[in-house]
Amino acid sequence: MSILYRSDAPRAAAWVRYFAEHAPDLDFRVWPDAGDLAEVEYLIAWQAPAEFIARLPRLKVFFSSGAGVDHVDFSALPGHVPIVRMVEPGIINGMVEYVSLAVLALHRDFFDYMAAKAARIWDPLEVPPASARTIGVMGMGALGCAVLERLASYGFNLRGWNRSPREIEGVESFAGPDQLQPFLAGCDVLICLLPLTAATRGILNRELFSLLPAGAALINVGRGPHLVDADLLEALDSGRLSRAILDVTEPEPLPADHPFWAHPRVFLTPHVASMTQPESAAPILLENVRRHQRGEPLADVIDRCRGY
Ligand code: GLV
Repeated sequence: MSILYRSDAPRAAAWVRYFAEHAPDLDFRVWPDAGDLAEVEYLIAWQAPAEFIARLPRLKVFFSSGAGVDHVDFSALPGHVPIVRMVEPGIINGMVEYVSLAVLALHRDFFDYMAAKAARIWDPLEVPPASARTIGVMGMGALGCAVLERLASYGFNLRGWNRSPREIEGVESFAGPDQLQPFLAGCDVLICLLPLTAATRGILNRELFSLLPAGAALINVGRGPHLVDADLLEALDSGRLSRAILDVTEPEPLPADHPFWAHPRVFLTPHVASMTQPESAAPILLENVRRHQRGEPLADVIDRCRGY
C-alpha cells in the first residue's frame, strides 16, 4: 500500500515521521524518491498535472495538500478517484489567527496609527466597542465558521453569506444570490473566504463594493481571482472602501509594478494567512486512508461539479 507525497518539500520530513511511527504498514514515499509509480495508490499533492497522473494507474484517492482545490485539474483525475480537500485544525487555526488579527487591526485603527506615527502625529481616535461593528463573512465552510466563532468572542455583530443556507448561533445568516445585497448592506468589514469557482470568480467587484456601507473595509483571504483589482483601486480612491487587507493576489507573486504595492490603504501579505501543518494534518489524512481501506466513506471529499 503506497502513499506518495508530492508537495511542499520542507515539510515532508514531518509527514514521513508521522507515518513511520503511526502507520508502519504503509509505504510512505516522498517525491522525487517515488519508486515504482505503478504502486502508488494515494497521492498527497498541491496539483494534479495530467501527464503525472497518467503515470499512476492504481491511484485510488487524491488528497489536496491545501484547503482550496481550485488549482487542481479535475479532468486529469479519473472519475473514480475521489478528490479530498485539506480540512485540519492547523489550517483552521492559522486562518482564525490571521482574520482575527486583521479585523482587530481595523477595529482598533492600527493602520491609521501606523500612518500617524510615521508623520509623528499624536491623534487619539474614538474607540467604539466591538458591538458597534458588523463583520460579514462570505463563505461559511469549515474556515468561515471557525472565523465567525472566534470573532463572536470579541463581541462583534456577525453575519455570514453562503451559497446554501447555514445556521450558526449568534450569526445572522444569508444565502444565495438573492440575499447577497441585504447581507452586504450591513457589513463594516467584509471577509472573503469563498472557494474559487466559476460562480465566485470576480465576485469582489465594483457592483459588490457599491452595496457595502460607505467606508467599509475588505479582507480577502480567499483567492486572488475573487477580486477585480481595478474595481478595488477605484473603490479605495473614491472613498467607497476605506481599506483592503489582501493575503492573496492574481498572479502570485504580485508583480513589482502592481499598484497594490504602493497604495497607502492596501495591506498585503504573501499568501501566508494559513498553511497546512503536518503535525495536525497527518493524523487526519491517515484516518481518511484507514476509512478508505475499510471501505467506509471518506471525509472532506469535494463535489467535482460544484468545484469545492
Ligand atoms: C491555501 O491557500 C490552501 O488552499 O490551503
